[in-house]
Amino acid sequence: MSIAEILETMSYGPAPESDKEARAWIKGLGGETKLFIGGAWKKAKTGESFETIAPGSGEVLTRIAQAGAADVDAAVKAAAKAQPAWAALAGHQRARYLYALARLIQRHSRLFSVVETLDNGKPIRETRDIDIPLVARHFYHHAGWAQLMDGELADREALGVCGQIIPWNFPLLMLAWKIAPAIALGNTVVLKPAEYTSLTALLFAEMCQKAGLPEGVVNIVTGDGATGEEIVKHPGIAKIAFTGSTEVGRRIREATAGTGKSLTLELGGKSPFIVFDDADLDAAVEGVVDAIWFNQGEVCCAGSRLLVQESVHDRFIARLKARMETLRVGDPLDKVVDIGAIVHPVQLERIRSLVETGVKEGASLHQPKAGVPAKGCFYPPTLLTGVHPAATVSRVEIFGPVVVATTFRTPAEAVELANNTEYGLAASVWSETLSLALDIAPKLKCGVVWVNGTNMFDAGVGFGGYKESGFGREGGREGLSAYSRPKWLAKAKPIAEKPSAQPTGDVLSTAFVDRTAKFYVGGKQARPDGGYSRPVVSPSGALVGEVGEGNRKDIRNAVEAARKAASWGTASEHNRAQILYYIAENLDARAGEFAERLAAMTGRRRQDTVREVSASVSRLFAYGAWADKYEGAVHKPPMRGVALAMNEPVGTLGIVCPEEPGLLGFVSTFAPAIALGNRVVVIPSASQALAATDFYQVLETSDVPGGVVNIVTGDRHALALELAKHEEVDGIWYFGNAATTGAIEKASAGNLKQVWAETAQRDWFDARQGEGREFLGRATQVKNIWVPYGE
Ligand code: NAI
Repeated sequence: MSIAEILETMSYGPAPESDKEARAWIKGLGGETKLFIGGAWKKAKTGESFETIAPGSGEVLTRIAQAGAADVDAAVKAAAKAQPAWAALAGHQRARYLYALARLIQRHSRLFSVVETLDNGKPIRETRDIDIPLVARHFYHHAGWAQLMDGELADREALGVCGQIIPWNFPLLMLAWKIAPAIALGNTVVLKPAEYTSLTALLFAEMCQKAGLPEGVVNIVTGDGATGEEIVKHPGIAKIAFTGSTEVGRRIREATAGTGKSLTLELGGKSPFIVFDDADLDAAVEGVVDAIWFNQGEVCCAGSRLLVQESVHDRFIARLKARMETLRVGDPLDKVVDIGAIVHPVQLERIRSLVETGVKEGASLHQPKAGVPAKGCFYPPTLLTGVHPAATVSRVEIFGPVVVATTFRTPAEAVELANNTEYGLAASVWSETLSLALDIAPKLKCGVVWVNGTNMFDAGVGFGGYKESGFGREGGREGLSAYSRPKWLAKAKPIAEKPSAQPTGDVLSTAFVDRTAKFYVGGKQARPDGGYSRPVVSPSGALVGEVGEGNRKDIRNAVEAARKAASWGTASEHNRAQILYYIAENLDARAGEFAERLAAMTGRRRQDTVREVSASVSRLFAYGAWADKYEGAVHKPPMRGVALAMNEPVGTLGIVCPEEPGLLGFVSTFAPAIALGNRVVVIPSASQALAATDFYQVLETSDVPGGVVNIVTGDRHALALELAKHEEVDGIWYFGNAATTGAIEKASAGNLKQVWAETAQRDWFDARQGEGREFLGRATQVKNIWVPYGE
C-alpha cells in the first residue's frame, strides 16, 4: 500500500507485540506446569494434566497440572501452617511484602501482559494498559490496608485460610482482587485459577518467591471445576471467595451450607446501559464500545442490555453501526486490535448458539462487514435490535461481544426495564443532565452505577452485586470485612439452645392474660393462619401466656407486608432516627411491665430483667443515633471522577432472634436493620416470645409505618427455613445453634439471598459485641456510583 493510499484509507498496519520472552517463559515450564504449594513447585499427585491453548491461534501453549484432593489438602495444610505467623506480623511488615509484589508486577508488566494475552486472547492493549496496571494498583492499595489494619480495624482479625476460585476473563486481575485483601489482613490463601487461563497465576507465584513471601502464604493449585470442588469442601478452609457463573456460585452456596465457612460470591450480570435523549450521543457510542466490546464482552459487568430513549434510538443505532465498522478484530498481540479472541471454542459455541436463539426469537442481527479472521477463536462485535425484554438474549448472560438493544420512553420505564432482571451487578447511565442521572442511580438495583462512563474499576472502590449477582464487596474499605472477623468471635462458645420447659398445667396468675397474642403483620395484629397457638412457660413449667404458631402462609403474609413498605428504604435518615428514639422512649415508659414479663418467662431476678430492659432502651437510642450517621464514603480513584459509596438497605430481611436474651436479642437485631431502611420479618425467641408480642403496642404508638416491622411467633427453626426459601426475602440473619444453619444456607441458594448465620454466643449486653458496625454493615449493601468530577 502506498503512503498516499494509507493517508486516504487511514488504515492501520499490523503492530505486533513480540512474544519472544513470554514464549521462552512458557517453554521454561517444561511442557507441564506444577503446583505452587508451601513456597515450592510440586508435581500434581494425580499425574494428570490438560492442554491450555492460545485462543488467538488455536495452538497448544503447554499442559496444565490437574490438582486433586491430595494436592488441595497439601496446599491447605501449607496455608494453615503459615497463617498464624503471617497474621502475627506487624501490619507494616506484611505491607512491605505487598509493596514488593506490586513493584515486581510493575517491573515484569510486559511479560505479564503478553502471557495474559496469549493465554486468554484479550488484546495486548488492554492487558498492557488496563489489567496489569490495575493489578499493581491493587497490591499497592492493599499494602496500605495491611499497614493501617492495627489502627483502622483494631477489633478485627484474619479469618484463617481462604479458598479462592477465579474465572478466566480477567485472570491476573481477579487473582489480585482475591489475594491482595486476603493476605493484607493476615489470611493465607489457596487459589485456583480458571482452567483456560492458569499461566499468569503461575507467573505471579514466581513473583511471590522473588518477593521472599513466607512459604505457604500464597498457594496456587491449577485444575478444573473438580479441583474447585475439593477447595470448597476442604474442612481446613475458613472462607470461600468465588467469582464466576451464577450457576456454579449457587452450587458453592449449597456445598458450603452448614459448614461455618464464610462466603462471598461475585457472579454474573446482565447490566443495562441506559442512553437518555439528552446524552452526548457520540460519547455514549464510545461508551457502548467500552461496555460490551472491551475484553470481547467477557466481562461480568458488561453493559449488555442497551436501553435507548425512543426519540434518539434510530440516530443512536445508526451511529453505533457506523462505529462498529471501524472496530478491528484480530490477533490479540497486535497493538492496533480492539477485539481479540474468545477465550475457548466452548465459549465461542455458547455465544453463537445464544445469538442464533436471539434471531429465532425475532431480533435483527447486525455485524460489521469486515468479518473475523478465519483461524483462531473469534466472534464479531454484534448488535441485536428489536429485542423483546422477555427474550432469551435479554435475560441470559451471553458473556461475549453481543449487545441487545431496546427502547424506552420515560425515565420510569428505563428504571423498570433496567431492574427487570434477576441480576444486579452494574449499570451505566448516559445523560448530560446530571440531576436526571443522579435521580436514576439510586433507583437501579445494582452494586455499581457509572454515570457517563462504564467499566471503570479501582482497588479503592468496592465492587459487587445485588440480587443473583452475588454478595460481598471486593476493593477498598468495603472489601475488608469479607476477609476479617471480630476478635471476640475466636473465643466465643457455640450457642446451645435449651429446650423450653414442659408446661405443667399451672398458670402464673400474675402474668397470665386470657388471650393468645397474635402476629404483627403490616402494622396490624393478625391471627395465625393455622389457628394454633403455643404456650410460653416459666422455667418451672407454669403458663405465662400463649402466642400464635406461625406457618408458611403467615411468613408469606409477613413478607408481602414488608415488601409493600418499601418506602421505608427511601425515608430520610433523620425521619428513621426520630422513630427509633420514639420506640426507645415508649419502651422506657413501659419498662416495669417488660421487666415483670421477662422475670416471669425466665425466672430471673427482677433487677436482672430491669437491666435487660434498660439495655434494650439504650440500644434503641444507639440505633436512633446511628440511623443518620452510618454514612457512605466518597472514593477518589486515580482517574477523572469520584465514586459515591452509598450504604443502601438490603431490602426485606428475615431475622431469627437469639433465644436468649428475649428482649435485648430482639431489639438488638431488628433495630439496626430498620435504622438503615430495611423492612423486617422477625421471628423472636420462642421461650420468651411475649417480650416481642408485648412490643406490638410500643411499635403501634411510635409511628412505625405498617409493614416495616412484622413479627411471627412459633418454631424458630421451621420459620427460619420458610424465610430462607422465600424468593422475595433479600437476606436472613439467624442467631441460634448450628443445627439449622445447613438447611437455611442451602435453601437460600434459590435467590442467593445473603445469609448471616451466627452460631457463636455473644454477650448482647456488651456493646462491642451486641451493637454497632458489624450489624450496620450486615444491614446494608454498598452501591458505588461513579460520577465525573474535577479535571
Ligand atoms: P464457571 O463458573 O464454571 O468457572 C469459574 C471458576 O469456577 C473456574 O475456576 C472453574 O474451574 C471453577 N468451578 C467450576 N465448577 C466448580 C465447582 N463445582 N466448584 C468449584 N469451582 C468450580 O464459568 P465457566 O464455565 O468458565 O463459564 C460459563 C459461563 O459463566 C460464561 O459463559 C459466563 O456466562 C459465566 N461467567 C461469569 C463470570 C463472571 O465474572 N461473572 C466469569 C466466568 C464465567
